[in-house]
Amino acid sequence: MEHLDNVTYLTHPLIQHKISILRNKETGTNEFRQLVEEIAMLEGFEALKDLPLENVEVETPIEKCVTPMISGRKLAIVPILRAGLGMVEGILALVPSAKVGHIGMYRDEVTFEPHEYYCKLPSPIEERTIVVCDPMLATGGSAADAITQIKKRGGKNIKFMCIIAAPEGVERLHKAHPDIQIYIGHLDRCLNDHAYICPGLGDAGDRIFGTK
Ligand code: PRP
Ligand code: URA
Repeated sequence: MEHLDNVTYLTHPLIQHKISILRNKETGTNEFRQLVEEIAMLEGFEALKDLPLENVEVETPIEKCVTPMISGRKLAIVPILRAGLGMVEGILALVPSAKVGHIGMYRDEVTFEPHEYYCKLPSPIEERTIVVCDPMLATGGSAADAITQIKKRGGKNIKFMCIIAAPEGVERLHKAHPDIQIYIGHLDRCLNDHAYICPGLGDAGDRIFGTK
């Protein structure tokens, strides 16, 4: 894959180790859900390193001082339903006062094209850093469309965070939205005929929620 300046691969050993456990088909729902949350937190640590700070006055036991703090009101987490929900608590563990929006997308089983069925974003969305999350970036259709919808509603400073990506998805998302930052836990080989990521981890939504 060509190098893209706006794409960051999160190569930290802890993230890679946890992704390997996720891939194992013997990993059960409970552990899977826990790991998705932990990976989201580790990825968030990197993805949020440019969060804006504001100075506030704090009184220490010694004296008053002016010291930087993150304004939670400036961050919106927007999971793509369903699987993105599994990442929310991990990011909220880092920024508990962040607001959470939701965007519902499903892939047509035949065409693999995305369809939006729900969108509710924190208001005002214009001033916030928006972290769109979904564990899987496969064809890239769901992420690209979700971000188009968020932009239509005024979203500007957008980051996309996933756990596993296919090269096809990274290309499509980058082409549709070259202005956003993309954070990826692992770049896999390719998509199969059913647009599943290989080797991937299977259907992320089903594994998080124990459906199917
Ligand atoms: C999965 C996954 C992504 C999408 C990725 O969701 O969580 O949203 O597929 O595929 P794409 O990059 O080819 O669009 P799915 O549509 O299966 O819905 P679900 O999360 O409700 O199971
Ligand atoms: N959605 C998933 O959950 N897994 C894939 O491999 C592709 C899309």
